[in-house]
Amino acid sequence: MLKYFYFFIIYTLFTLTTFASDKVIVAHRGASGYLPEHTIAAKAMAYAMGVDYIEQDVVMSKDNHLVVLHDHYIDRVTDVQVKFPNRVRDDGRYYVIDFTLREIRSLNVTERYDFDIKGKKIAVFKDRFPLFKSYFKIHTLEEEIELIQGLNKSTGGDVGIYTEAKSPSFHLSEGKDLSKAILETFKKYGYQDRTSKAFYQTFEIEELKRVYDKVLPMLNMDVKLIQLMGNSKYYSKMITIKGLRNLSLYAYGIGPSLNMIIPNNEKNSELGLTDLVTNAHREGMKVHPYTFRRESHSSLAYATSYENLLDIYLNQIGVDGVFTDFPDLTVKFLTR
Ligand code: G3P
Ligand code: CA
Repeated sequence: MLKYFYFFIIYTLFTLTTFASDKVIVAHRGASGYLPEHTIAAKAMAYAMGVDYIEQDVVMSKDNHLVVLHDHYIDRVTDVQVKFPNRVRDDGRYYVIDFTLREIRSLNVTERYDFDIKGKKIAVFKDRFPLFKSYFKIHTLEEEIELIQGLNKSTGGDVGIYTEAKSPSFHLSEGKDLSKAILETFKKYGYQDRTSKAFYQTFEIEELKRVYDKVLPMLNMDVKLIQLMGNSKYYSKMITIKGLRNLSLYAYGIGPSLNMIIPNNEKNSELGLTDLVTNAHREGMKVHPYTFRRESHSSLAYATSYENLLDIYLNQIGVDGVFTDFPDLTVKFLTR
């Protein structure tokens, strides 16, 4: 009898472990629910929370360094307006591409902010880390990879990188091949083929195809590609059955916004699911939607809590992974 009991325990543990490792947890801009996004501190915290991948959004500086920032603008997470008041462009924005790495490093980084109608800085997420407190700086893609690989060595972990080229066509129009520079950095650090624990992601349809057709062969590489998508007309052809079939010829998976899977304001009892996940799975692609936030469920009529939101997407719908600002809550949910 005892031997059946032990078998049951081992089987249950094996099943739980397999389940947990089947779903990919990506720390969205690090543990950005707790510390300013894309800072080294936020990345180290995410690592310690037990994620599978840490995300980098990447743009290029004037002197061709790859820096980890969400936008090709630098004016929503730094004190650039105070340090370089004359470098604003006519559209009122400060462009990363107008600054050298040395200048970028001189800025202080803060929790993401916006401006109210009086021009005062206000936090985008009011319950998160306070604005302009402590000491945070911008770092390069290489520095972040070295952090993750260093932690993999010192802890025995195996956390991967999930890197987005931000506005690659804008960079190309400025004479900078952002995707190529990112993939060269992948190669330098040993992420070279589909077995590597690395993803390349972008929102731009033409760029992902160019990466597959030209950049990867030129570099003799073949890493996993993710097509990001949002709820806009730009993706309407791509999300048809035919479009997804074509995409599956070169993409490992898709990264859709949550509302491409459940349109906003659907009630839990009558989830108005689109067929995006089913159709992507039918074409053999993985689905990693964004962005799972503790704050999200209050604005989504169909979810009653963060855990309920995860349950709907991961268990009921069956997506393969999530981008989350709250890695700890997500790890806890999956290992429960
Ligand atoms: O890359 C997945 C997700 O991060 C996309 O949204 O705007 O946060 O880069 P964003
Ligand atoms: Ca991103």
